[in-house]
Amino acid sequence: MGDSFRDRIPVIIDTDPGVDDVIAILLAIASPELEILSYTVSYGNTEIDASYLNVLKIYQTLKQHLERFPSDRDRFPNFTTATKPILARGSAGPLEGKLHSAQYFHGRDGLGDITDRHPELALPSGIDLDLHPYLVISQRSAVDVAFDILKARPPRSVTYIALGPLTNLALLMRKDSQLVADRIGRVVCMGGALDVPGNTSAVAEFNFFADPYAVKELLIATHRHKGLPKDRFLMLPLDITTPHELPFPEYQKSVDPAFSIIASPSLAQGHLKSPVTHFTSAFLERTREIMIQFGKDAMELHDIVAVWCAIENPPFADNETPKLATGWHGQSRVFDIEREGEITRGMLVTDRREDESAYPLGANRSEAQREPHDGHQGQSTGDSISKKDIHWDLNEDGSGIFCITQTPGPSVLLQLLLQRVWGVSLKH
Ligand SMILES: *[C@@H]1O[C@H](CO)[C@@H](O)[C@H](O)[C@H]1NC(C)=O
Ligand SMILES: *[C@@H]1O[C@H](CO)[C@@H](O)[C@H](O)[C@H]1NC(C)=O
Ligand SMILES: *[C@@H]1O[C@H](CO)[C@@H](O)[C@H](O)[C@H]1NC(C)=O
Repeated sequence: MGDSFRDRIPVIIDTDPGVDDVIAILLAIASPELEILSYTVSYGNTEIDASYLNVLKIYQTLKQHLERFPSDRDRFPNFTTATKPILARGSAGPLEGKLHSAQYFHGRDGLGDITDRHPELALPSGIDLDLHPYLVISQRSAVDVAFDILKARPPRSVTYIALGPLTNLALLMRKDSQLVADRIGRVVCMGGALDVPGNTSAVAEFNFFADPYAVKELLIATHRHKGLPKDRFLMLPLDITTPHELPFPEYQKSVDPAFSIIASPSLAQGHLKSPVTHFTSAFLERTREIMIQFGKDAMELHDIVAVWCAIENPPFADNETPKLATGWHGQSRVFDIEREGEITRGMLVTDRREDESAYPLGANRSEAQREPHDGHQGQSTGDSISKKDIHWDLNEDGSGIFCITQTPGPSVLLQLLLQRVWGVSLKH
């Protein structure tokens, strides 16, 4: 990375900002490899109105931060009034079926209820959105905004980073699948749980649980439209995202010594912290409390891994073989998704009679999830993406979905995240 990137990668970030999305967006803004064209917001972790406000809160925080610490501008190179990402509202619910959110985890406001606990972080009332200094606030739908971007930009240049339910993307395909197929550079999608337990139910990851209909239509029963180009689709299921963590003791040591949990809040020191740190600590203190109940004192970096993947794996030209960057590996997997199960909504069903990549029958699925992917002595060149080893033909077009199985490692991401978002390095 560093100065080796050619042009910046234009990205559309499709998101339902709850806790990990917000940190993922901060990482994206702090990454000179990316040019954020748009935020297409949807329901998900919380309802759409709250998701939408959270993007505005991120921008308010950064604005205050850079006013107080102008030297940090270098760290957020593209936080400028010159090129403003478009903020647009998308789906308020799934294509079909019931609306579910994850407010128990993310809070009603998507940020651990900082609205109640930290009134000082509220958006000023009467804020003039038409004159937002850093964002273009669009009244058009997220789908139309994404459509126009793909149409206007050079073909195969834009990466679509999907951090929430896939509803917006499914609607974009319904609108004009030919255009999307021709124009999209890459889709990087966080979602699904293949060989590990779910995180919303015993079997389902949240984004796929939230709209299994969209997943089915986009990736499996694709007769409805032309289908997403499979060689341009990268999926990051929980299998690979979960081992990437931000341990809270590490956060406390490196970023915010006053960081705590709500039960003993560090509120009083709020004004002493930098605005970015105050903001992230304000919601992470609640996340920490919940994660400790789940048995671990760390935050899982799901959406953050997806943004990292997009940074390191730019779109490729038509005549190039799709490749992954050094340290990244993946595998084509065939699965179907349960849409209406009594207890299995959003579950990915793979045929373990045929699928050699799946864990062996009777294996301990929790073990698979704990496997650290760090320090692997991988080949120095990335994998070619091929449609290999698919015997079992569940997907209609007979091909699998390319799933990331290995990254350069959790510690590499942790360093990158701390350095870019908070400007600190790991303290040992
Ligand atoms: C965005 O960041 C890159 C890398 O630092 C820089 O070259 C570019 O000029 C920035 N773009 C804008 C609009 O500031
Ligand atoms: C489950 O995974 C999704 C990944 O998109 C994440 O946003 C959410 O916070 C996770 N929920 C829990 C309870 O870990
Ligand atoms: C499965 O693995 C988890 C995590 O290592 C462990 O806590 C649990 O006891 C194991 N279960 C069985 C049935 O071995």
